[in-house]
Amino acid sequence: MLLSLKNKKIIISAGASGIGWSTARVCLSKGATVYLCDINNKSLNKIKKHHLTNKRLFSYECDASDENEVSDFFNLVNKKTKKIDALINNVGIAGPTGTIDKLSSDDLEKTLKVNVISHFYFSKLAIPMLKKNKGGSIINISSGAGIMGFPLRSPYAASKWAVIGLTKTLAMELGKFKIRVNAICPGTIKGDRMVRVIRDKSKYLKVSKKKIEKEFVSMASMNCWIYEEDIGKMCSFLISSDGERISGQAISVDGNATRMD
Ligand SMILES: NC(=O)c1ccc[n+]([C@@H]2O[C@H](COP(=O)([O-])OP(=O)(O)OC[C@H]3O[C@@H](n4cnc5c(N)ncnc54)[C@H](O)[C@@H]3O)[C@@H](O)[C@H]2O)c1
Repeated sequence: MLLSLKNKKIIISAGASGIGWSTARVCLSKGATVYLCDINNKSLNKIKKHHLTNKRLFSYECDASDENEVSDFFNLVNKKTKKIDALINNVGIAGPTGTIDKLSSDDLEKTLKVNVISHFYFSKLAIPMLKKNKGGSIINISSGAGIMGFPLRSPYAASKWAVIGLTKTLAMELGKFKIRVNAICPGTIKGDRMVRVIRDKSKYLKVSKKKIEKEFVSMASMNCWIYEEDIGKMCSFLISSDGERISGQAISVDGNATRMD
C-alpha cells in the first residue's frame, strides 16, 4: 500500500456518506487521520463500526451551515490536534429544481448558506490550524454547475460559481503561507444524490427518469458516470506532495462534460 498521506490530518465537512465518506476512506487507506462531521446522525452511526477498526477516524455531528455548531466541532477537533494538513469543504445540497419565478426565497437562501457560507465558517477556523502546520491544502467541492450554466438549478449553479470565486481568492491570500486552495468540479456522480436529482427533474419536466438519466450521462463526452471514489482520489492527489505546486485551480473530474442541460 502506498501511504502517500501518512501522518496527514484532514478535516472533511459532510463526510458521513456520498463523496465525503468515499474521500474519507481513500484518505484513510493512504495513511491519513480524518476528522469528519455530518448533520445526519443515522449516517454517522452507520460509519461508527469503522472507528473500531480504524483509530485514525473521528466523526462528529454538526450542521455545517450553523456557525456555532461549526465552532463546537472545531473545539472538539482542537482537543485532538492543533495542526491540520487539509480541509475539504465538501458540504453542499442540491437545492430546489425549477425556473426562478417558481422558487421560494427560503430554498434559495438555504442553498447559499449550506453551499457557500458554510465554507467561510470552516475556512476561518481551519486557516490558523493550517498556518500552525506551516502549510497545507484547502479543497472546495464545486461542480460542473460552477463552470457552466445549469437550467432549472439556478441557486445551485450560483452557489457553485461562488465556490470557485472563493477558491481563487483564498489561493491568492494564502499562497504566502504555503496554503494551497483548489476546487474540484465533479460531474454526474453515481449515487444517492443523482437518484434524487433525476427524480425531481423528471417530475418537474414530466419526462421519464430513464430519459433524464441518459441525458445526464451523455453530458460527458466519455458518456460515463463518475464515481465518488474518483473525487476522493483527486483530493488525495492534491493533498499529497504530488500536488505541492497546484493552487487556485478549478479541476474537473467529469469525463469531459461539455454541457449541463
Ligand atoms: N453527487 C453529484 O452528482 C455531485 C456532482 C457535483 C458536485 N457535487 C458536490 O459534491 C459534494 C458532496 O455531494 P454528495 O453527492 O456526496 O452529497 P449527498 O447529497 O450525498 O450528501 C452528503 C452528505 O452531506 C450531509 N449534509 C447535508 N447537509 C449538511 C449540513 N448542513 N451539515 C453537515 N452535513 C450535511 C448529508 O447528511 C450527507 O451525509 C456537494 O458539495 C455536492 O454539491 C455532487
